[in-house]
Amino acid sequence: MKNLIDILDLSLDEIFNLIETAIKIKNNPSKYMEKCRHKKLATLFFEPSTRTRLSFEAAMYELGGNVIGFSEAQSSSAAKGESVADTARVVSCYSDIIVMRHPKAGAPLVASMNASVPVINAGDGGHNHPTQTLTDLLTIYLEKGRLDNFTIGFCGDLKFGRTVHSLISILCRHKGIKMILVSTESLRLPSYTVMNCINKNNIEYIETNDLDSVIPELDVLYMTRLQKERFTGIQTRSSIDGSYILTPDRLKRAKKSLCIMHPLPRVNEIERAVDSDPRACYFKQVLNGKYIRMALILKLLEIE
Ligand code: CP
Repeated sequence: MKNLIDILDLSLDEIFNLIETAIKIKNNPSKYMEKCRHKKLATLFFEPSTRTRLSFEAAMYELGGNVIGFSEAQSSSAAKGESVADTARVVSCYSDIIVMRHPKAGAPLVASMNASVPVINAGDGGHNHPTQTLTDLLTIYLEKGRLDNFTIGFCGDLKFGRTVHSLISILCRHKGIKMILVSTESLRLPSYTVMNCINKNNIEYIETNDLDSVIPELDVLYMTRLQKERFTGIQTRSSIDGSYILTPDRLKRAKKSLCIMHPLPRVNEIERAVDSDPRACYFKQVLNGKYIRMALILKLLEIE
C-alpha cells in the first residue's frame, strides 16, 4: 500500500497489523524514537484541525523525524490559485510523506495521483477520515478486546459526519456487528454510499431518532457533533432538532461496560459531567490517535 485515501484501501489483516504496531509503540516508545531520523512529514491542511494535524506532527517528532507544512489554505499558494495536483507534486520535492486535509471530497486522491511520495487522507469534506477510523478501531480493541460481535450506536450527524462514514464502512467487514443509527430524519446516513454498504453486507441495523430507547443495548456509543459547516438550507432546522446531548442521567440506563466515544471536537453533545464517568473513552481516543498514526507512518515509509 502506497497511500491511505479510504479506510477500505486496507485489508483487515493490515489494519490488525497497524493496531499491533501501535500497541507495541505505546508500550515501548523509546524503541521507536529514531525510526524516522532524517525523514520529513508534510502536513497540508486546507481546513481547520487540532487533533489530526497535531497528532501527526507529534507522531513524526516521536519517531525522530521532522515536520513541514501549513495549517490553512490562505497561507499556501492555493490562495493564489495553485491546484491540489501541483501542490502535491511540489511538496513531494521537500518531504517523504504527505498528510492532507481538504474541504473537497476526493482532493487527497487527486494529490496521491500527482505526488511521488505516500499521501494520507486526513479528512476530505463529508466523505472519509481513514486515520480517525484507525484511531477508533484501536480504541475499541483496547477497550473491548475485540473488533467483532458488539452493538454500536452512532448518534448525531450521520449525514455529514465523515468519521461515521469511514467507521461504518470498515465495521461492515467485521462479524456480528449490530448498528443502531440515531439521528433526525434530515441527518440520516447517506443512502447512496454508507447505507448501501450496510445493506450489501447484510448488517443488522435499526434507524431511530430516540437515543433513550436504545441506550441499554449498546456496547459502544459513538457520539458526533453537528457538522454545521457542511449544512445546506434544509439542514438548518436540524441544528436545533438534531442535537442529542449525552448526560449522566441518560447514562444511568446504559451498560456498565459501555464505551463512549467521540472523534471530537465536542460542542455540546456530551455534558462535561460525563468526562469523569469511567465509560468515557474520548480522551483516551485522542492519545490512541498518535500511536496509530506513528504505526501508519512507519508502514507507508516501509520502516520496520
Ligand atoms: N477528530 C478530528 O478529526 O479532529 P480535528 O478536526 O481536530 O483534527
